[in-house]
Amino acid sequence: MSETFSLGGDLTVNRLGYGAMRLTGEGIWGYPADRDNAIAVLRRVVELGVNFIDTADSYGPHINEELIRQALHPYADDLVIATKGGLLRTGPDEWPVLGKPAYLRQAVETSLRRLGVERIDLYQLHRVDPDYPLEDQVGELHKLQEEGKIRHIGLSEVDVDQVKAAQAVAPIVSVQNLYNLANRGHEAVLEYATEQGITFIPWFPVATGELARPGGVLDAAAKEHGATPAQLALAWLLRKSPVVLPIPGTSSIAHLEENVAAARIELTDEEFEKLSALA
Ligand SMILES: NC(=O)c1ccc[n+]([C@@H]2O[C@H](COP(=O)([O-])OP(=O)(O)OC[C@H]3O[C@@H](n4cnc5c(N)ncnc54)[C@H](OP(=O)(O)O)[C@@H]3O)[C@@H](O)[C@H]2O)c1
Repeated sequence: MSETFSLGGDLTVNRLGYGAMRLTGEGIWGYPADRDNAIAVLRRVVELGVNFIDTADSYGPHINEELIRQALHPYADDLVIATKGGLLRTGPDEWPVLGKPAYLRQAVETSLRRLGVERIDLYQLHRVDPDYPLEDQVGELHKLQEEGKIRHIGLSEVDVDQVKAAQAVAPIVSVQNLYNLANRGHEAVLEYATEQGITFIPWFPVATGELARPGGVLDAAAKEHGATPAQLALAWLLRKSPVVLPIPGTSSIAHLEENVAAARIELTDEEFEKLSALA
């Protein structure tokens, strides 16, 4: 299994990334309870060799991008920060969609400023807004790409037809959909991404810890392998397709270290089949 792959043909990333969303307050709203810990986690992420961090303007909102800048700016040359836009925040756990092109432009401009970069490596449309043509939403991101403000464009929570419609407007390098061992609703999108060489970023990779739970569905297999359940959930994703880039989220340095170590786990064909049959 390759330890790195090429995102969009020109960015080399290690196959296990980090999702920063959990470094916020309850309901993904406001500051995390322990800001110093959040900064320490982000610094440990890069120390461990992770060079893909996923965030969004809506996490906090704004606070998650600001924390990344505070912890890691000036950024290492090989660090890829992927952000997203297209959601409003009206309160804790509230995420109304807004894909109005002028709003997407504002979102990109303000993420550039908050992250302290001149170009965003990967900008993902957080949701397709059914109230605006998909072509106009991706089209606005394509204009921003042509202006040099976005390097690559990605999508989030889309089906195969939406990926194809977006590809007719601009090159699409990634899709970020909910996917894990226990929830494979987006199998068709993963297959299409694999065929096309589009990076597939499965969010919720350890199902908010449910797949990491002692006594849970992965417990026995993990004991047999000498790994933790969370590690097995991640190793299964990495083995599932060469285009998969998991972004487990955590606010714990111990969990982070455990998750990153999963990239070194090799599953046998038999173990992979057994795990695939579990969910
Ligand atoms: N595109 C989208 O619509 C979308 C939606 C949601 C999330 N995301 C992205 O995907 C990333 C990951 O998703 P997620 O955070 O919802 O789900 P996740 O990574 O599956 O789960 C994170 C949760 O699992 C726990 N956890 C992580 N590693 C663990 C371990 N080794 N052992 C035990 N528990 C562990 C964490 O708790 P502790 O803090 O206690 O470790 C945290 O509560 C987010 O950070 C975000 O960047 C994208």
